[in-house]
Amino acid sequence: MEKFVIQGGARLTGEVTIGGAKNAVVAIIPATILAKGRCVIGNIPNISDVNILLKMLSEMGASVSFLDKTTVEIDTTHIVNPIVSYDLARYLRASYYCLGALIGRCGKASVSMPGGCHFGVRPIDQHIKGFEALGTTVGIDHGMINAKVEHHLMGSHIYFDVVSVGATINVMLAAVRAKGLTVLENAAKEPHIVDLANFLNTMGADVRGAGTDVIKIHGVDIMRGADYTIIPDQIEAGTYMIAAAATGGDVLVKNVIPKHMESITNKLVQAGVEVEEFDESIRVRRDGPICATTIKTMPHPGFPTDMQPQFTAMLTLAGGTSVVTEGVWDNRFRYVDELARMGANIQVDGKVAVVQGVETLTGAPVKATDLRAGAALMIAALMAKGTTEIEDIYHIERGYEDVVEKFRSLGAPIKRVETPDLEIPAAL
Ligand code: EPZ
Repeated sequence: MEKFVIQGGARLTGEVTIGGAKNAVVAIIPATILAKGRCVIGNIPNISDVNILLKMLSEMGASVSFLDKTTVEIDTTHIVNPIVSYDLARYLRASYYCLGALIGRCGKASVSMPGGCHFGVRPIDQHIKGFEALGTTVGIDHGMINAKVEHHLMGSHIYFDVVSVGATINVMLAAVRAKGLTVLENAAKEPHIVDLANFLNTMGADVRGAGTDVIKIHGVDIMRGADYTIIPDQIEAGTYMIAAAATGGDVLVKNVIPKHMESITNKLVQAGVEVEEFDESIRVRRDGPICATTIKTMPHPGFPTDMQPQFTAMLTLAGGTSVVTEGVWDNRFRYVDELARMGANIQVDGKVAVVQGVETLTGAPVKATDLRAGAALMIAALMAKGTTEIEDIYHIERGYEDVVEKFRSLGAPIKRVETPDLEIPAAL
């Protein structure tokens, strides 16, 4: 096991380059299943979720090779095994995108119920509703989701009861091969939905309206391999922007799409941070105090839930009281207990956290409870007096590439160290 050891107090300065978007790549890799051919995907982030998905595709019969550090070639000509086992699916939510893609390609699939970050109950009823509307029978047995197309995949009109990124992507992956027109209403609008639609269209699909809440898909008979480059990661970029602001630093965040950052930029400005936008980069600096503010997370284009823990970490040192409302997940404040170990004053009542700014945080041993919680603890550690040790860093490495190297390049005193196995004394 390894942990991060972070010495607080440094101001982050310099430049950091953002990698490909995790939540786009985890949809685009499964989407390659739809092509009976070779895809070359660029701007692949170096994160563990990617490695696990590539292993899943290899087990199905695809051949996978890296052409360089950020470019992968996936040849899905010989997919023979439309199965994803628990051994791999348990590591990430996005394993279930193999379901939509395999339904589209093979007309059947057997995929273990997915793992991923734990924010309370994470239902998949909207995915199943969509697959069934397209003419698929879906059952869950022994932890496996089994899907079979009865006759043909048939286009359909589907109204999602909730705005769901996962259901929008999964149903889109199957619908591109359905006969006729599929209309997805109340669809999610995140940048990664648009990126997936663009990739599918490059493969020969006909998807229109991605990025709005109505997506129209005319099914096609054949999809081919394609070359594609993943968009930059909105959440990785936002995390470095907040880290720069939280430490009173001055950082140029490169390889971003500023339009994707607007909701985050807007809140940083309200918190007293200077943000300057360029074509493909954003400069963030702060000289004055952090101002208390309110945040409510919402589906895109609202403030992203995946930035909520990091922003809350920064607000622990704001002057005054901030109110943070989680509008997407039932239980995304588990990390607050860890921030409290560092001296933060946060009261949580259901989906609302009231953050009373304190003078200082102090370094402490803490645990990453999930991916973005881990990022929040890194930011808090940088703001704190003394040393913080963060355990369970595998959560962080699921979604942040070269995170130690990137933070170090900005002047953060952070190192990765082995933790010895704990010997638990035998019961007396
Ligand atoms: C995606 O999760 C992201 N994961 C999450 O990012 C992100 O927090 C979330 O979207 C919201 O933006 C990936 O893209 C791999 P949802 P997803 O389906 O697709 C309810 C990160 O940190 N719902 O949009 O699982 C659900 O309970 C990760 O990078 C249903 O009720 O989220 C939630 O309240 C963590 N029924 C809401 O919808 C369903 O069938 C939104 O969930 C599906 C979802």
